[in-house]
Amino acid sequence: MTSQKPRPLEQEDANQALPVERARTMPANFYLDPVQYDLSLEKIFARCWQFVGDTQTMFAESTKDGVVKTGAMTPFTLLEGSLNEPLLLTQEEKQLNCLSNVCTHRGSLLIEKNCEHSSIRCRYHGRRFALDGKYQSAPGFEGAEDFPSEQDNLPRAAMGSWGNLLFAGVKPALELDQIIGEMKERLAFLPLDQFKFAPQLSRDYFINANWALYIENYLEGLHVPFIHPSLVSLLDTKAYHTDFHPFCNVQIGVAAHEEDAFELPPSSPDHGQLIAAYYYWLFPNMMFNFYPWGLSVNVIMPQSYNTTKIRFLTYVWREERFGNYSVKDIHQTEMEDEAVVEMVQQGIRSRFYDTGRYSPTWENGVFQFHNLIRDFMKA
Ligand code: FES
Ligand SMILES: [Fe+2]
Repeated sequence: MTSQKPRPLEQEDANQALPVERARTMPANFYLDPVQYDLSLEKIFARCWQFVGDTQTMFAESTKDGVVKTGAMTPFTLLEGSLNEPLLLTQEEKQLNCLSNVCTHRGSLLIEKNCEHSSIRCRYHGRRFALDGKYQSAPGFEGAEDFPSEQDNLPRAAMGSWGNLLFAGVKPALELDQIIGEMKERLAFLPLDQFKFAPQLSRDYFINANWALYIENYLEGLHVPFIHPSLVSLLDTKAYHTDFHPFCNVQIGVAAHEEDAFELPPSSPDHGQLIAAYYYWLFPNMMFNFYPWGLSVNVIMPQSYNTTKIRFLTYVWREERFGNYSVKDIHQTEMEDEAVVEMVQQGIRSRFYDTGRYSPTWENGVFQFHNLIRDFMKA
């Protein structure tokens, strides 16, 4: 359905200048119009960082004694289902590269599966590139003028990491540290190298709703007592609070009981508090949820204006700490959240609805998210 909604997004500028006490939420148009959706892929997703995975898993077949072998290559698709950008990780002796996986000759995909080679060879007409993407040779190009040039090298994508966790982007408008810097600092006490990917505890969910609706629900605690009654008994809801940073925020779940809390060292800024969970949201579509047992990463992957894939990636650190809140409970919470998010996607189609208001106490995260969307959409 294309939108019958009256208010164009450009009029959002005026709304953006308002404080949370007076502002209105995003117009329904944003979640219903396929044109807005396509625009958001270029304006937001192509200009932001994405979580790619962990190097341990991505190079599992090419690792010896804990070291990734020189020449190991791992192709992947950045944000499958929407951006669909084909990229390639290549391991040189001293550095990991993230390159375009598209041949600079006539655009064939280069590497189709994990492999080890000393150079990258296109199987269409045999063009070769070094592991850093530099053009090496091309049969049949004798006599071509101004050749090879800079354009014949494989373009580099942006790449950065935190421990084994890899992030990449097409053309990020921000530095990676503007997105993950605060999380890295606050959680510096966590031995990330001991976090192991657990495929049996990881899975994808699909919902019939716009990606942004899913994220909004994550960003507010107002719904928690209504939708997740079983969570309420575990958390000290009065102490539950959110810290805001320019491109991320963290909801801090304070534990009601000591056995559910992190053992925080004196170096942690939260030392002395009972913290059950850190729920980090990183603009635009990533959640890093840290628990005393490990990490649950959620990547919200748009598939169309009204369908979304949600990838849950579980990294286990201390299995013995699964305790009262575990992966099984996360699934239950997820089902409860998905049901309400799908109800919103249906509800906003109403001719009687366009926008709503923010709770100044509980919905500052949603307000922040909307303002960032507004900024990126107009840039
Ligand atoms: S497309 Fe790669 S060599 Fe022709
Ligand atoms: Fe929820």
